Amino acid sequence: MSASTAFTAAIVPAAGLGTRFLPTTKAVPKELLPVVDTPGIEYVAAEAAEAGAERLIIVTSPGKDAVAQYFQPRPDLEKTLADRGKAALLEKVRRAPGLLAVETAIQEEALGLGHAVGCAEPNLRPEDEAVAVLLPDDLVLPTGVLARMAEVRAAKGGTVLCAFDIPRAEISAYGVFDVEETGDPDVKKVNGMVEKPPADQAPSTFAAAGRYLLDRAIFDALKRITPGAGGELQLTDAIALLISEGHPVHVVVHRGGRHDLGNPGGFLRAAVDFALDHPEYGPSLQAWLRERIGSQ
Ligand code: G1P
Repeated sequence: MSASTAFTAAIVPAAGLGTRFLPTTKAVPKELLPVVDTPGIEYVAAEAAEAGAERLIIVTSPGKDAVAQYFQPRPDLEKTLADRGKAALLEKVRRAPGLLAVETAIQEEALGLGHAVGCAEPNLRPEDEAVAVLLPDDLVLPTGVLARMAEVRAAKGGTVLCAFDIPRAEISAYGVFDVEETGDPDVKKVNGMVEKPPADQAPSTFAAAGRYLLDRAIFDALKRITPGAGGELQLTDAIALLISEGHPVHVVVHRGGRHDLGNPGGFLRAAVDFALDHPEYGPSLQAWLRERIGSQ
């Protein structure tokens, strides 16, 4: 198995209520909120496709059909845009459906991230020895870390995760790794993992950053865990169980940027960051921000 063909299925858990974005999420799933003009989940789907995924399994909850619908073609709209000669808009509208094949798995009850990932097991095919999981709250920039993770799995086997070095004061919001050095400063062996530890008990400052390349063994482990942090079935606890049984787990330390789309403050930063780079909106936004901040 070559690194580029290490996985063809990617799971995106998107079943949450989006409480931090209420009241908007009464009607619009948070995964569809636009970062400038493109929903966050399209960036995540594009990242999965770029890394070799052919199928995207969106784990969704009843009433959030719009997330999967977003990836369906809209022939009526395409025809209107084509008739009007709107080639650039047509290209935008076709982009998401053209990325990869999207299917859904339903999580009936919000029992945690581990439970959500487990809900996608029936969607896997016999040949899926590993599966990628991308959390749509996390934008990891630049893209490319999944390909690096696939290389590490090809070399070392087992499960490979993405880690960020996070300030200790913020570490209790994350799954945290107990790590051991390898010869490569950006690849570490994981000896343990703990979900949302108090800062003074965190085994390191390396935190899980929403990108996972999981060996299929994870689904068996997910069936054997009990509720953990927050009373939820945690993916972290299933990974920790595998480690305790001798399953190899490594992290690739990503030194690039990251945005947290899971709360309005982080979402706004991402939107401003992307807008500043946008040829149409960037220059005037920058001028306005300078004036706005200067006048505080
Ligand atoms: C989840 C995971 C956590 C991980 C984080 C990354 O937590 O449980 O291990 O570090 O995503 O964003 P959540 O942010 O959903 O509470």
